[in-house]
Formats: sequence, C-alpha cells, structure tokens
Amino acid sequence: MLCLGIESSCDETSVALLQEDVLIDQIITSQASLHSIFGGVVPELASREHERHIGRLFDNLLNRNNLNPSDIDLIGVARGPGLLGSLLVGANFAKGLAFGLNKPIVGVNHLHAHALAIGLTHKLEYPSLALVVSGGHTQLYRVDSPVKFIQLGRTLDDAAGEIFDKIGHLLGLEYPAGASMDKLAQMGKVGQFPLPRPYLNNDNYDFSFSGLKTAAAKILKEYELLNIINKKELIAPEKYKLICNFCADFNLALAETISKKTKRILDKSFKEYKAVWLSGGVAANKKIRETILALAENFNMPAYAADLKFCGDNGAMIANAARLIYKEGYKHKCDFEIIPRGKIIPEDMVKIFQN
Ligand code: KG4
Ligand code: ZN
Repeated sequence: MLCLGIESSCDETSVALLQEDVLIDQIITSQASLHSIFGGVVPELASREHERHIGRLFDNLLNRNNLNPSDIDLIGVARGPGLLGSLLVGANFAKGLAFGLNKPIVGVNHLHAHALAIGLTHKLEYPSLALVVSGGHTQLYRVDSPVKFIQLGRTLDDAAGEIFDKIGHLLGLEYPAGASMDKLAQMGKVGQFPLPRPYLNNDNYDFSFSGLKTAAAKILKEYELLNIINKKELIAPEKYKLICNFCADFNLALAETISKKTKRILDKSFKEYKAVWLSGGVAANKKIRETILALAENFNMPAYAADLKFCGDNGAMIANAARLIYKEGYKHKCDFEIIPRGKIIPEDMVKIFQN
C-alpha cells in the first residue's frame, strides 16, 4: 500500500510517501527563518506559506519518484492539534486529492502520529508508554493500539519545546532555539546553576514548566547573559563558558523533570507496558534521549527514541499513522473537521471492516 502523508499543522510543510512502513521519500520545508524575526510562529504568515508551497511539494514528490497521483492508495493528513489556518491548508489539499482520486483518507491526530513514528524504525508493541515532547505539547500516553490512546499526563502551561524556545530567545538565539541550546549544552558542564525540577510535589503525571522558565530567566539576568548571542561584539570565552554551562544545567533540569514524571508511572505499573517510546521535536535532545533510555533500562524494559529525521514535524509520521489506523479498519469521510489546539479531537472515523 502506497500511503501519502501531509503535515502542515505549524510551521513545517511536509509531504511523504510510505510503501507499507518503508519510507520512499519525504520533503520538509521549514518556515523557521521567516518566523524567527518575530521570535515565534505568526499564524497568518504560516498558513500563507503552506498555501504557497504545498502544491509544488506534492508535484515534486511524485515527479522525482516517477509516480502518478493515481498510484497513491491512501491519503493521511494532520487534522489537529495545531494552528487552524495551517491545518486547513493541508487538510483541504488532502480532501481534494481524496475526492478527485476516489481514494480513502484518514485525518490524523498530530500527537498520536508523533508517538507512532517509533513504528517507522521499530516494531510497535502494545500497550506501550509514549512520551511526546514537542514545541506545543508534553504528553504521556498509554497506547493500547493505533486507535486507542489514553492520556495519562500533559503540560499545564508551556510545553518542553516552548520553554527551550523562550529561554533561547532570552539568550538571543534564533527561533526555534531547542537544537542550538542542545549543542551549547554539550560543550558545557552541569552543576553551576541551581535550576528547579518544577511541579513534582504532587501525585499526578502532568507537567508545569513555568517555574523553571522563571528561574532560568532570573539567572540569565543576574549573570548578564540576556540577549548576549545577538550582540554584535564577540562573546568573551568566559561568558561563552557560562552560556554552555547554563544550557547544560537547563537541559538537565528539563530532562530530569520529564523523567521523574515518567518514572512515577513506571514505578506504579511498569509491568503493564511492553516498551517506552520517546518522540516529538524535543526528543532530538541528547540529554532527554539519554535520560529516558536510561530510565527504561532501570526497569529492564525496551525504550525507543524516534529516529532524528522523524522527531520534528514530518509527513512520514502522518502517513505511518494513517496506514496503521486504516489497517485497524478505520478511515474518514471527506467532511471531517480540523481541530485547532485546545479542542478535543472527536472519535469520528468510520469503520470499514471488522478485524
Ligand atoms: O514536534 P515539533 O517539530 O513541533 C511541534 O509539534 O510543536 O517540535 C518543535 C520543537 C521546537 O520547540 C524546537 O525548539 C524543539 O522542538 N527542538 C529541540 C531540539 N530540536 C528541536 N529541543 C531541544 N533539543 C533539541 N535538540
Ligand atoms: Zn509536532
């Protein structure tokens, strides 16, 4: 089965083709440089950019693989959560294709697609404990099947990626700042800056990173590191060392906070789970990958972190989720709705067969 995946929920436009679970090809265009002037994604600009690129990306993808639209067997598209205008561009393009080609379509939950992206490199076993850390979300799920996700925890304020981007912005780094902070951290030493592991004094599995953000901002001010990377003059070696050490401590504080909440679930019920999955844009982070893989190892359970090319938003994860959902016997009618961030995604798929 040749499955097309379309992703346009935030500031990446991506199209990909999967033949079963094998990636045939994928194109991702990022709008990061456009939005970096504003320090974050501007929704109206994002949807215009998706509209400008999507048709050309689709044509390129087919042409360079010598394929015709009619060769596609299934169409998957991100239907939310995300930015409304951005989602609409991808979803309407996908619906037009499905209607015109008379092919089945699946509107995919973007967060579930991040979690299931593990299936692009490893065999998926259920139930598994999925940790999705991205720019907009920090979620913990029990995954019973491609169509059964039980949310165990979520972020109550900023997502993990969001706080990387906000603190990075204070340092003067360009949006999105997570990958740059990760690189700086790898040149630093931990232990200089006492940062909190916030929102652990409770018995739930939710996250709240605002305390860490405030503490980090205070340190940057105190050590005169605000906007330091933006300044025209060269950074003195001593200051550079401070920045790297700060990033190392910041990475560690985030990794340990995320890991402690994940451990809380495993302490209670690790025997229920076949594996731990780590995915989403922030899953590219070295310290977070190491910490979560080590945590699972302590419980003697397998843990998989998404392949780096499937961490950030990508069409392959959407195609993969659509394919898995379709194999479970579900698809959408062309009238499914787009669900922006903050709204519950309805269970509105139609059953096509009993398996
Ligand atoms: O999953 P994603 O591409 O988009 C959303 O669905 O939100 O995640 C993007 C986020 C950004 O906040 C970016 O700064 C962060 O992932 N990110 C990282 C790293 N690479 C990307 N954060 C920490 N370390 C990284 N290596
Ligand atoms: Zn994402």
